[in-house]
Amino acid sequence: MDLLKGKTALITGAARGIGKAIALKFASEGADVAFTDLTYDENMEATEKEINALGVKAKGYASNAASLESSEELITNVVNDFGRIDVLVNNAGITRDNLLMRMQEKDWDMVITVNLKSAFNLTKSVQRVMMKQRIGSIINMSSVVGVNGNAGQSNYSASKAGMIGFTKSIAQELGSRNIRCNAIAPGFIETEMTSKLKEEVRDTWIQTIPLRRSGKADDVADVATFLASDLSSYVSGQVINVCGGMST
Ligand code: NAI
Repeated sequence: MDLLKGKTALITGAARGIGKAIALKFASEGADVAFTDLTYDENMEATEKEINALGVKAKGYASNAASLESSEELITNVVNDFGRIDVLVNNAGITRDNLLMRMQEKDWDMVITVNLKSAFNLTKSVQRVMMKQRIGSIINMSSVVGVNGNAGQSNYSASKAGMIGFTKSIAQELGSRNIRCNAIAPGFIETEMTSKLKEEVRDTWIQTIPLRRSGKADDVADVATFLASDLSSYVSGQVINVCGGMST
């Protein structure tokens, strides 16, 4: 299928995990793909090769989404290399879980900066490119814990809830320029991020999921593909839960 043919997508934090699955799915739908991660390492090189093998243009950039300066530089480089940016996926994210009683200030600051300020950095930097093109789709990776909260993740759920408010505001600000902005709220998805969880915590989570299974990165990538494509051209300011029914 060619749902994204002619489009260029930029995905942050995509050397592995959900971001990588999105990059590969977008490429299989014909998009050229620029993606970032913190360093240009073997993961990034392998991802770049896998995307290129699908017959589209792909390039990985070492760029820290938490820095506005890095993000501005990144957008300039991607436009120089690809000519345009139709889709931005703010996917980079981290966890530093702890009960509030034990949470250190640096763990609060780090999670808010990497998860939430990054969306500001990239969206602010890309907006003039999308405004000039008069088309764009911005997809923010939130989480079901941003919708529902979660004990032991107050920093993470605050950052993900913040992304939802940001998404709805940007949808209102940029809609008249034909720029859409939506959020995806994944539930329990098997990646390196969730592999840190203990077996019993994992099993307990799965018991609470109506579909009785964890999600795959591809489950999220399918919804991202819909939001990136013209199939969703009248969808903006929405949060789509991809959680097996965990959050209703
Ligand atoms: P992951 O940890 O496997 O991948 C995240 C990637 O982001 C890594 O490659 C990491 O190096 C990169 N990254 C971290 N900080 C960065 C920065 N400052 N600049 C650029 N890249 C950076 O995580 P996963 O599971 O693939 O998660 C992707 C997104 O989905 C995150 O925003 C996460 O919060 C969100 N999410 C994940 C869920 C899950 O169950 N795995 C559930 C809900 C949301």
